[in-house]
Amino acid sequence: MSDIQSLKTEFTKKIKEKINKQELDSIKTELFGKNGKISSLFKNLGNLSADQKKEFASNLNLLKDDLISLINKKFSDLEIQEINNKLKNEKIDVTLPGRTYFNGKIHPVSQVIDEVTSIFSEIGFSVEEGPDVENEYYNFSALNTPENHPARDMHDTFYLDHSKNLLLRTHTSPVQIRTMLKSKPPFKIIAPGRTYRCDSDQTHSPMFHQLEGLHIDRDINMGHLKGCLYYFVKKFFEVDKIKVRFRPSHFPFTEPSAEVDIGYKIEDGKIKIGEGDKWLEILGCGMVHPNVLKNAKVNPKQYQGYAFGVGIDRLAMLKYGINDLRSFFENDIRWLEFYGFDPLDVPTNYRGLSR
Ligand code: DAH
Repeated sequence: MSDIQSLKTEFTKKIKEKINKQELDSIKTELFGKNGKISSLFKNLGNLSADQKKEFASNLNLLKDDLISLINKKFSDLEIQEINNKLKNEKIDVTLPGRTYFNGKIHPVSQVIDEVTSIFSEIGFSVEEGPDVENEYYNFSALNTPENHPARDMHDTFYLDHSKNLLLRTHTSPVQIRTMLKSKPPFKIIAPGRTYRCDSDQTHSPMFHQLEGLHIDRDINMGHLKGCLYYFVKKFFEVDKIKVRFRPSHFPFTEPSAEVDIGYKIEDGKIKIGEGDKWLEILGCGMVHPNVLKNAKVNPKQYQGYAFGVGIDRLAMLKYGINDLRSFFENDIRWLEFYGFDPLDVPTNYRGLSR
């Protein structure tokens, strides 16, 4: 019994002292290891008489339980202490100034969207948005596109369900319908965004970007359309003199329809916009078809207007001399370092659009 009492006093004291986890571990071995003090006492039980054995064993078990729970408690205290120390020592001072190790860059597509938005906002266009996942009605039917039109083909359009009702929009033109349905004319909007078609090569990507324009008011005519696009092209390419050509074309949602080409030449292996005898197509446009206005609850006898759709990626390639469209979407940080723009250099008409 005195053995038990003295062990209890001695080890309770030891465990409570200022020790670390390793020291605690050795105390545990000293007591409960193969030749540990408690283990040995258990082994000696066999030398005692039956009566003594009973009492001694029960006291020994009590001691064992006491010491084990003391040790476990100490272990968890030490662990908590360790975590608290870590939290204290590894504290971050969030008020310290940041260290920049990589300057983020603006992607040329975002840059061009900012530039174009700035140009059009100066002449009264506001920005609208529409969903990437469209339904067949807004993307085709409301835009006067007949059931058998080739654009509706599975080879061109990504359909999201068997009924062909949900799809990834193939152009930004459905935003025209959404905009007109949600308020009353006049409308003067642009809508930049992502568009999708089953197509992929050096100049086509399954996901690309367009900018839609729509201007509806009383007595709007083709002259307004030409004026607006001339202004845009000059501002965007930052040249005073530019050759622009309107070529007759066909779109179901406009009548008449045209495509716009700009003149260019190749000088020292580089594209030079505005001069020369080569032509590059940059957008589709036309006077909004009366059926489209009717579908959008606008009376075509009172209101008319024009619309246009520009390929944003194409504009970026032309202006910044990037010749593979697919590189735009490869997420290569070195490419972005080279072709990207300074985030603080926001394009505005008065400060200049680009570097
Ligand atoms: N949506 C056409 C396309 O993706 C481009 C277009 C042409 C838009 C004429 C228009 C337009 O608004 O009037 O090819």
